[in-house]
Amino acid sequence: MTDNSILRLAIQRKGRLSEDSLSLIKESGIKFSNRTGKLKSKARNFPIEFLFLRDDDIPDYVADGVADIGIVGENVALEKSKKIDFVKKLGFSKCRLSLAIPKEIDYKGLSYFQHASIATSYPKILQGFLDKKNITADIHEISGSVEIAPSIGLASGVCDIVSSGSTLLSNGLKEVETILNSEAIIIGNQHLKEEKKSILDKLLFRIESVQKGKNGKYILLNAPNENLDKIIELLPGMRSPTIVPLADKNWSSIHSVINEDEFWEVIENLRNAGAEGILVVPIEKMIL
Ligand code: PRP
Ligand code: ZN
Repeated sequence: MTDNSILRLAIQRKGRLSEDSLSLIKESGIKFSNRTGKLKSKARNFPIEFLFLRDDDIPDYVADGVADIGIVGENVALEKSKKIDFVKKLGFSKCRLSLAIPKEIDYKGLSYFQHASIATSYPKILQGFLDKKNITADIHEISGSVEIAPSIGLASGVCDIVSSGSTLLSNGLKEVETILNSEAIIIGNQHLKEEKKSILDKLLFRIESVQKGKNGKYILLNAPNENLDKIIELLPGMRSPTIVPLADKNWSSIHSVINEDEFWEVIENLRNAGAEGILVVPIEKMIL
């Protein structure tokens, strides 16, 4: 059954992660047909096959080797904590696993949960957290619509995923403790064959190039030569900036790459150092 020349990737069929997972694959230059309802699809230009599954099932499939790798939320991977490798964080679908209670309650601390009942789809992570805090609570495992539990008298609090917070809000709950910060990750089977590992390496290389591109901006600016040293010092760059002489021989054009996070600060410093005509261009991919 196992064809080692193809890597099987399980992704969420629908839900929080599916769209971003598919975009990442597309930005990595991998082409495949993705008709709705299709549960399996082979890429046309890369040795990879996609399995579209429920996110909660993905860790099992990967542990068993039905899929070689999978994209899931860290929250799901940790809850299932099967024998799987955590291969790479992907930086999207960020959310947190939190404790929430009815908003009218005056929350004074974790003791609120002592001997209380908590509804959750994450009993294992929750139990681990409570143990660490020396709290004994009654955990009600339910698989969905956890947020209605308090209003129907099933529990005095919930432990669930919060992203925008709108589900909590519309159910009259407020977040009181964060248990875990989570994002999408790649998980992998622990016994991948060499052939599959090398396909995975190629995939990871592409993903990293896309991620670095997203983080970086290409910047072009003009500066008087007398300020060049000062300006070069301000530019972090990959190695050192490219400097091109301008027709006016007292001026040069400088090209470099800067990080999204430090962007505005760097721009301001550059202007103060006499830079003019600053152009900032998005980077599609960055190969280092
Ligand atoms: C989570 C959680 C909430 C919702 C919170 O479900 O159960 O219903 O997302 O998001 P919000 O803060 O933006 O309102 P999830 O997407 O993980 O679905 P699943 O549990 O069915 O996989
Ligand atoms: Zn789910």
